[in-house]
Amino acid sequence: MSKSDKTTTTDHTVGEFVRLGKLHPHHKNPRNNDHAVDSIANSIKRFGFTSPIVANKDGTILAGHTRFKAAQKIGLDTVPVVYVDLSPVDAELLMIADNKLGEKADWNTDQLSDLLTGLKEQGEDLDVLGFEQHELDDLLDGLDDADPFGDSEPVEAEPPPLVESDLDFRLLKGNCLDMLKELPDNSIDSIVTDPPYELGFMGKSWDSTGIAYSVELWSECLRVLKHGGHLVAFSGSRTVFPMGVAIAEAGFEVRDMISWIYTSGFPKSLDISKAIDKRGGSSVAWFGKWLKDWRLKNNIKQKDIAKLFPSKTGGLTGCVGNWETGANLPTPEQFNLICDHFDLPFENIEEAERQIVGKHKSDAGGFVGVRLGDKGGNITAPASPQAQQWQGWGTALKPAQEPAVLARKPIDPDCSSIAENVLKWGTGAINIDAGRFAYGDDCHFGDTSELKDKSKSKGQSSTVGFGQSAAMNDTIFVSSEIGRFPANVYQCKKPQRSEKEQGLDHLTGKTGAEATQRKEGSDGLNSPRAGAGRTAEHVKNFHPTVKPIKLMRWLCRLLTPQGGTVLDPFLGSGTTAVSAILEGFNAVGCEMTADYYPIIQGRVNWAKAERNKEVLDGQKEQTDG
Ligand SMILES: C[S@@+](CC[C@H](N)C(=O)[O-])C[C@H]1O[C@@H](n2cnc3c(N)ncnc32)[C@H](O)[C@@H]1O
Repeated sequence: MSKSDKTTTTDHTVGEFVRLGKLHPHHKNPRNNDHAVDSIANSIKRFGFTSPIVANKDGTILAGHTRFKAAQKIGLDTVPVVYVDLSPVDAELLMIADNKLGEKADWNTDQLSDLLTGLKEQGEDLDVLGFEQHELDDLLDGLDDADPFGDSEPVEAEPPPLVESDLDFRLLKGNCLDMLKELPDNSIDSIVTDPPYELGFMGKSWDSTGIAYSVELWSECLRVLKHGGHLVAFSGSRTVFPMGVAIAEAGFEVRDMISWIYTSGFPKSLDISKAIDKRGGSSVAWFGKWLKDWRLKNNIKQKDIAKLFPSKTGGLTGCVGNWETGANLPTPEQFNLICDHFDLPFENIEEAERQIVGKHKSDAGGFVGVRLGDKGGNITAPASPQAQQWQGWGTALKPAQEPAVLARKPIDPDCSSIAENVLKWGTGAINIDAGRFAYGDDCHFGDTSELKDKSKSKGQSSTVGFGQSAAMNDTIFVSSEIGRFPANVYQCKKPQRSEKEQGLDHLTGKTGAEATQRKEGSDGLNSPRAGAGRTAEHVKNFHPTVKPIKLMRWLCRLLTPQGGTVLDPFLGSGTTAVSAILEGFNAVGCEMTADYYPIIQGRVNWAKAERNKEVLDGQKEQTDG
């Protein structure tokens, strides 16, 4: 590095401006960062280069590879750099530690949600923060509060231009318990569905009717499904059990469970330590311990205070001792009486909240790095001995998966084997080869070590599959050209808004106010939890629980024979039908909420057009080839 490269020369902890050409990425950088470059570039444009790159003295970048790429992208000449002089091993350690340590802190989601909502309310563009759209949707959850059974008018929509297709889609408008009766016995090849989770999600009335536990519903599904046909039905991790029981009671054979891993949920755990401190509604549980220290320091005896609270007979009680050991808390009246008689640093209970021991600080990444806290950024200490004992305990894990029951209609009583059933009905088996994961497909969950040995070409081809060992006449795993054997786990993120709104350009959409069924300027709408600040945004697919298309395509592909028909009794915004069409299957589904009909129709129309394009491209390739 020559001196001319520097615009400022300071000690190495502050950094110096260096030409980009003097830096180069570490050849062993273990991070995939291409997807993050745009977000970081936006952030640099908005805030400047707030965090210097760390480089070894020869210009090898050890921390800040993404910032380096972002700087290249936006055409910066120089960037701030902190130089270090590390051995090759220490350099590698720092490169890993810099990334790994950043993952240690986690979010106080309530505080984050309030902070984001406030910023949004002030009209700030949250895109510069690097959150995925679905993460922002989760955090700013007000838009998802729409109650489809409310009084608001349905979305005004132009009828979508109809796309001609060989594939059939039928929308049965109404309650699936009634609508399924329109379908003949043994007419459906697979059922891929996402019923209500029965959790009353975001106050939705349709999510707590008990329909998912209805044996009558699953019996209708059994009736319309062909013999040996498969059903896959999603549920909440705590409501899947009663739903599975109802499915089995209806006559299905429960075969397996499939997990959709989405990893991006936010924990909603109750802080037990705080809950203990707040027993009885008081927030002054720290007071007992504090009182003892204060009393001893000021040479005041327990009985001096206890005199304020005589027993019915006028004698002394052990109340002060009990408070000091944390066995119980003074009532607000008792607390205020002590304040009146002694010179305490607070006048009354309102002034004496749970003891504040600090303020939240931002960590190196500029994010809130502490776990729990009160409103206003205060960190409060566990006060009572019991609360100290239970510090760090909560009531829930971070949600990261949704389970689905995989079940099968028993085979035709006239068939003597599953093979005979498959030949007669086309149903009964799972399309393993169509469900395989290509190498490099990040929807595959788990160890990828076989890849190194057996891969022929990255991103495609070889994998571990199954085949017959002639000697053993036994199924063994062997390498395969067509992808990794499908597991009962599928990993992918929640869908982005762009995916959810494919085919909906013609719709007017709903504003935040319409979606939340609240009046502009009303208290409810202005509440941060209700999504204040999003009133002007028009959302076209306002369904709150849209599944990712690639997940549903994979399920349709696994369970449906060629030319088959997929049923979803709970279409929502139509993701199953969209997925079935994209995979070349016919689709039929029910939905009882009229607000969603234009969304379903627009999305399915788009899927038909996409499928037509794919078929045409395929035909063209064949002709050219
Ligand atoms: C969990 S959502 C499905 C979301 C869908 N997977 C998607 O990606 O958009 C369940 C849907 O079932 C509908 N529903 C609830 N009970 C129903 C019933 N008895 N008959 C028909 N539809 C019903 C609700 O209106 C809701 O849209």
